[in-house]
Amino acid sequence: MKFYLTTPLYYLNAEPHIGHAYTTTIADIICRYYRMAGYDVYFLTGTDEHGEKVAQSAEERGKNPQEHCDELVQKFIETWKMLNIKYDDFIRTTEERHIRVVEKALQILYKKGDIYKAHYEGWYCIPDERFWTEKEVVDGKCPLCGREVKWLKETNYFFRMSKYQSWLINWIEENKNFILPVIRRNEVLGFLKNQLNDLCISRPKTRLSWGIPLPFDRDFVCYVWVDALLNYVSAVGFTYDDSKFKYLWPADCHLIGKDILTTHSVYWPILLHALGVEPPKTIFAHGWWMIKERKMGKSLGNAVLPENLVKEYGVDEIRYFLARDMAFGYDATFSFELLHKRINAELADDIGNLFQRVVSMIHRYFDGTIPSNTAQGTDETRLKEFSTTMIKKIEKNIFELNPTQALENAVEIARETNRFIERTAPWNLHKNGEKQRLSSVLYTACEILRKLSIIYYPVMPQKCDIIRRTLRAKEPITFESAKSWGLLASGEIMGEPISLFPKISEKKGRVAVEASEKISMDDFLKVELKVGVAKEVERVEGTKKLLKIKVELDNEERIIVAGLGDIYAPEDIQGKRIVLVTNLKPATIKGIESNGMLLAAEDNKGTISLLTTDKEIAPGAKVR
Ligand code: MSP
Repeated sequence: MKFYLTTPLYYLNAEPHIGHAYTTTIADIICRYYRMAGYDVYFLTGTDEHGEKVAQSAEERGKNPQEHCDELVQKFIETWKMLNIKYDDFIRTTEERHIRVVEKALQILYKKGDIYKAHYEGWYCIPDERFWTEKEVVDGKCPLCGREVKWLKETNYFFRMSKYQSWLINWIEENKNFILPVIRRNEVLGFLKNQLNDLCISRPKTRLSWGIPLPFDRDFVCYVWVDALLNYVSAVGFTYDDSKFKYLWPADCHLIGKDILTTHSVYWPILLHALGVEPPKTIFAHGWWMIKERKMGKSLGNAVLPENLVKEYGVDEIRYFLARDMAFGYDATFSFELLHKRINAELADDIGNLFQRVVSMIHRYFDGTIPSNTAQGTDETRLKEFSTTMIKKIEKNIFELNPTQALENAVEIARETNRFIERTAPWNLHKNGEKQRLSSVLYTACEILRKLSIIYYPVMPQKCDIIRRTLRAKEPITFESAKSWGLLASGEIMGEPISLFPKISEKKGRVAVEASEKISMDDFLKVELKVGVAKEVERVEGTKKLLKIKVELDNEERIIVAGLGDIYAPEDIQGKRIVLVTNLKPATIKGIESNGMLLAAEDNKGTISLLTTDKEIAPGAKVR
């Protein structure tokens, strides 16, 4: 049986933060469990490389878009490697294999009469690359991200999405697992109560050239979302490898964040249906990682990078935390306190402690030899039954896409085993010379550890390898072996006890929390802030966002490049007093050396406001 799971393709406009890492890690964990259940798994991830967002971020870095993508994609590949993600395929939308499929798909739809050309006038959100109707716009802002929308007049190509609206409603109603969790399904059905508009699927090259040209009109490029969604079929052979495509499609699960629910559960199934292809089986939308009630994200400036977390806490600990702390489908808060709590309580106290005490006792009472699997007492039988029940629950929760609950079941096994050790008190059995019972109790505890090393394997492969090496466990890592009993070889000498999950000391915890939230005065004083007067402001040629500003300070003038050109015209800034960071290392942007950075404020709706002074203070005045 096959299982084909995908993650979204991440935009190459910034390096991955733990929001992206969450989707990819959960996808990896689910796939590893499916492999354990005997499925032939195909796990696809990749990067979304066309469109305005990526073009803009390339521009800001002074690179051409392809060069920019080739560099930034490495950051994703490295991050996934660091997080121990085992994908089967990584697709980039700039790859030839993908571009060919996009062209073919567009050609099919065009020939069928599902694509037409029309003049359009309306609101457009640049960051989201989406058109909005008058009704949808909220106080001049994009209903999705809250940023300013622009009035655009353009001729474009449109896909007859509205034609398929009633088909989609029926499909969702008849396929209960098509959109999960149920709240998201209801959300989409609610959205579909309104008349669907046709979808604008092109952008004129005069405005945006970074995309796949339409095969039937090279003056236009394909809308980035249509391009990107098609990756799910282009990676698995659509239109070029029939046998692969027939085997893997429909995808079993598109795992996404709730921010991209409409594109996946409205545009995508309709596009597929129009192409004569069945929709995926399930689209699962998880919630967001929040920091102090705000979505974590690059544009909000509150992104936590997986690299730093893994360095500080270890890869398995972070994988565990991500999977454990977000009730799957709902939002979760990220904080260092919660991370430390989880590591200390469950990993160190429950699992790590169980491992260390059992292995130590075997060394103490049996010279490190795995004891024999002798006749068992009631306590042992009860624990064995409890673990089997829990493992069945874990399996069920995984297949119902509920990894958080599956991990709750797993930690229950560890806790119950710790209670079992307290109850049976091997130290007393040893003192009283009850050798046979002692052997039975400790063998049982070892077997449970072996089961845990399988059950936790998809989440914490490195730590589980240590447990398995210590126990000399050699059986295949499958649900079957996790449910079996007596697979450890009595008589073998086991490895030494070690501390699997060192506790995070309160001090380290405090330092990390403080480091994440507060800086010292010394840190602040490292940043030199001054008031300057913007003497000459002009656009950087060939860019939409960049402004070149000559700034007067006390007795010097400097050039800075600022990315505010889409919000401020040069004349809006000319003559203003602006606040600058003056001791930044120079950066070369589009061939211009920028010596400093101006300050602007951005609220969580994306409104941006330049910082100026309320008096005509002398240029060069220090900001303290
Ligand atoms: N490129 C599109 C997706 C195209 S799929 C055909 C895109 N990319 S993205 O880089 O913005 O990444 C989106 C995904 O990253 C979200 O759907 C979600 O899976 C993940 N996350 C980004 N920020 C997140 C949080 N703060 N919390 C949890 N996941 C988040 O949209």
